[in-house]
Amino acid sequence: MKGNSPILEVRDLLKTFGAVVAAKDINVDISQGEIVGIIGANGAGKTCFVNMVTGYLAPTEGSIKFEGTELIGLETRKITHAGISRSFQVSQVFHSMTVSENLMIALAIANNRGADALSLMDTPDLRSKLDAVLKRYKLEPHRDSTVSALAQGVRKLLDIAMAVVSKPRILLLDEPTSGISVEEKFDFMDIVMGALKEDGVTVLFVEHDMEIVARYVSRVLAFYQGEIIADMPPKKALADEKVQEFVIGKEHHKKRNRT
Ligand SMILES: Nc1ncnc2c1ncn2[C@@H]1O[C@H](COP(=O)(O)OP(=O)(O)OP(=O)(O)O)[C@@H](O)[C@H]1O
Ligand SMILES: [Mg+2]
Repeated sequence: MKGNSPILEVRDLLKTFGAVVAAKDINVDISQGEIVGIIGANGAGKTCFVNMVTGYLAPTEGSIKFEGTELIGLETRKITHAGISRSFQVSQVFHSMTVSENLMIALAIANNRGADALSLMDTPDLRSKLDAVLKRYKLEPHRDSTVSALAQGVRKLLDIAMAVVSKPRILLLDEPTSGISVEEKFDFMDIVMGALKEDGVTVLFVEHDMEIVARYVSRVLAFYQGEIIADMPPKKALADEKVQEFVIGKEHHKKRNRT
């Protein structure tokens, strides 16, 4: 279903917090199936952008249309129902429950069943959906593990798996690889991006790691002080003078300051 009209249309987005301008003059069209990397230094406005698209933050001005429907003013629940999802924050996962139990709850909610009684949710239909998700996200070996016992990479796979059970058309991820070791990061992204591409999900993800950006995205949006300063393919973006100065330079600076 690859039409010409964009799946997401963002127009003249503005967000201010008092004197702080978190988003300004944001105009962007996203086509179905694009894998978009959102980059930018600390405080550039990346999370605010994700929050506005997913309804967690109301813009000061502007319009965000999903398949022609205005999203601004809709509750997050309605936006999710329309087909836009985001990875669950760790706090939204039940730490004392197992991987399977968490996924069953997410599946039950996505399939409009109550999430209050696990026994009621345990139908053959949901079981087979659960098995499919566990397989696709390589979570089978961990299905009976308690979340609190999982390694960070596995926990993040669960977060994403829980966000996709509602079968979103667009998935937004805020720093999916943060906290994942250098050794694990490519395996993790191969699993996630492989699964999402198979389902034709359009992905927008915030990323600080330029190796991940170079390898997995088809398009880069570079943010600086709330504005998009570059919108281009990754190879071009990573070589761009402004991106070098205002994103990559500042990332190095930030990393140095962190350690
Ligand atoms: N609720 C809020 N109230 C006031 N200012 C806010 C609020 N949320 C964000 N900001 C400000 O908006 C700007 C953009 O913040 P945002 O969280 O989007 O940055 P970011 O690009 O995600 O940064 P990081 O890489 O550190 O996650 C920052 O200056 C931030 O301090
Ligand atoms: Mg952020």
